[in-house]
Amino acid sequence: MRTKLIVANWKMNNTVPEGLKLLAALSREVRETKECEVVFCPPFTALFAMSEAIEETPFKMGAQNMHWEESGAYTGEISPLFLKDLNVQYVLLGHSERRQLFGETDIMVNKKLSQAIRQKLIPIVCVGETEKEHKEGTTFDVIDLQIKKALDGQQKTELAGIVWAYEPVWAIGTGKNATPEQAQEVIQAMRKSLAKITDVPTAESMRILYGGSVSDEKAKGFLKQPDIDGLLVGGASLIPQKFAAIIRATEAPQ
Ligand code: 13P
Repeated sequence: MRTKLIVANWKMNNTVPEGLKLLAALSREVRETKECEVVFCPPFTALFAMSEAIEETPFKMGAQNMHWEESGAYTGEISPLFLKDLNVQYVLLGHSERRQLFGETDIMVNKKLSQAIRQKLIPIVCVGETEKEHKEGTTFDVIDLQIKKALDGQQKTELAGIVWAYEPVWAIGTGKNATPEQAQEVIQAMRKSLAKITDVPTAESMRILYGGSVSDEKAKGFLKQPDIDGLLVGGASLIPQKFAAIIRATEAPQ
C-alpha cells in the first residue's frame, strides 16, 4: 500500500511571517493526517523558521530545488547538506518552471537525483509535456524519455520509494487540468516504464503524483484513480481552507 502524499509547492510566494501564518492556519484546520503524508515546500528563506514550527504539526518539510554538489563555488545555490540541516525530508527536482525558465536540463536533474539519493533526501522528480507536445500526441514519448534520462546510470537498488510528479506544463497555473482519466493513463504508463527500467516491486513502491491546477473541488477525482498516489499543489496550497480540503479529500470514502 502506498501512502498518499499531498505536497504544497509555494513557489516564490510567502515571506517568513506569511509562511508561518499560513502554516498555523492550516494546522488549525488539519490536526492530524490519518490517510496521507503532507509536505510543505516553502521558499528557501522560510525553511529555517518553518522547520521549527512544523515540529508541532503532523506535516513534513520539503524544498523546491537543490544543487547536485555538496559544496563549492556555486554562488546562489543550495547544497543538499543545508536542507538536511533543517530537517528537510523531501526535495522537488526538475520542476517544469526550473526546466523552462532556468535552463535546467535532464542531465542536471539526473545529477540532482543521484545526490538526493546519496543524501537520503526523498526526491520528487517532476516530468510533463508542453502544450505543443500534448497537441502533437507525443506525451508518452516525452515523459518516457524524461524518466529514462533521470534514471540513467542510477543504482537500481537505490530507487525504491522515490517519488515522481506528472505535471503537464499546459496545466500548471492555467486553470486547465488534465482530466483524472488522462492523468491516470499517463501515470499508469509511467509506472510501466519505471517497471521496465527497474523491476515491478520497485515501480510499485514509487509514488506518482499529479500536479497542474489542482483545486479542492477536483482533488478527489484524481485521488480516486488507482495509479495516482497524491497531488502536487501550487496555487491552491496558498489558501489554507482550500489546501485543507485537498488533504481531507484523501480521507473521504473512495
Ligand atoms: P498550480 O497548482 O498552481 O497549477 O501549480 C502546479 C505546480 O506547478 C505544482 O508544482
